[in-house]
Amino acid sequence: MSPKILPAQAQNITAAAKHLRAGGLVGMPTETVYGLAADAENQAAVASMYLAKARPGDHPVIVHLASAGAATNWVSSIPEFAKSLMKDFWPGPMTLILPRSSRAKDFVTGSQDSVGLRVPGHPVALELLRKFEELGGHGLVAPSANRYGSVSPTTAQAVFDELGGVLAERDVILDGGAAEVGLESTIIDCTGAAPVILRPGAITSAQIEQSCGLKPHAPNETKVRVSGSHKKHYSPRATVHLSPDATLGSGFIALAEIPTPAGAIRLAQPNNLEEYANQLFAALRAADNLGLSKIFAVAPQGDGLAIAIRDRLSRAAHQGSEIG
Ligand code: TXA
Ligand code: MG
Repeated sequence: MSPKILPAQAQNITAAAKHLRAGGLVGMPTETVYGLAADAENQAAVASMYLAKARPGDHPVIVHLASAGAATNWVSSIPEFAKSLMKDFWPGPMTLILPRSSRAKDFVTGSQDSVGLRVPGHPVALELLRKFEELGGHGLVAPSANRYGSVSPTTAQAVFDELGGVLAERDVILDGGAAEVGLESTIIDCTGAAPVILRPGAITSAQIEQSCGLKPHAPNETKVRVSGSHKKHYSPRATVHLSPDATLGSGFIALAEIPTPAGAIRLAQPNNLEEYANQLFAALRAADNLGLSKIFAVAPQGDGLAIAIRDRLSRAAHQGSEIG
């Protein structure tokens, strides 16, 4: 008894929107990673989503919207700098943390006074959100569609591999193809006087500064929690080592210009940072599917997207016991 993977055609999107309004769960493609969507105003639906992910109940989730205009439903105020960011980067791989309105309940915000909002830049996600709004809904919570602490899925099949055993038979996974970005959205705390990057992603610090004229602050200047910021996260079963010295029979991830060490199994050879981001999670997942016990990865240098890639690699490599 497993959920179905359905092609993201109009009739399947409409059926998925109805299923969400009825309290069901839907694997939703987005341009960053696949999400596990539930009606953001339905406490029972959100609870079943937490259960499927085995996620602790006090971790806040992002509310996904069909348009920036819908944000006013969920927040009590929007600072000018956040309005610039919305205008420049929505729909797209950016989540804004804003002071919540009474619509954003504790079961969405983890009892914090803020709520995370995102307008995703994927045509299937946007169509699903629009249909859901037509049916009277106001937003969909959608954490990455993986079990808690594991690697975010970037394909419909990866969602099935993660959650197929725990979703209901009537739940669906919409297949919108492989995620274009491949890393989760940049999360920006907008509850203070200036933006704070809580999770690096495809929208970079330089782009944020260019958009709103304010230099983003470091995350230790905020008190809000981000589960992806726990040290160990995005972890495959294989151990990840940030070193070029791959041993015999281990997996290897590095830019294409770096040759594969003798006896290692090449998992990804991206030509640039965009390809690195796009291929990273699929490569970690491939190692597990191949039954490898070790992965060696050479982290990319530089700013921008390289910061987000290094962030995910170092969390995947963290050997401690905390998970997020
Ligand atoms: O790209 C993405 O953001 C994907 C796709 C599916 O949209 N979603 C995603 O959701 O990565 P999730 O739940 O795996 O990660 C969201 C992060 C969590 O670490 C959570 O703690 C943080 O956002 N977050 C959500 N609301 C927050 C809030 N009010 N304050 C601080 N952090 C918040
Ligand atoms: Mg996640």
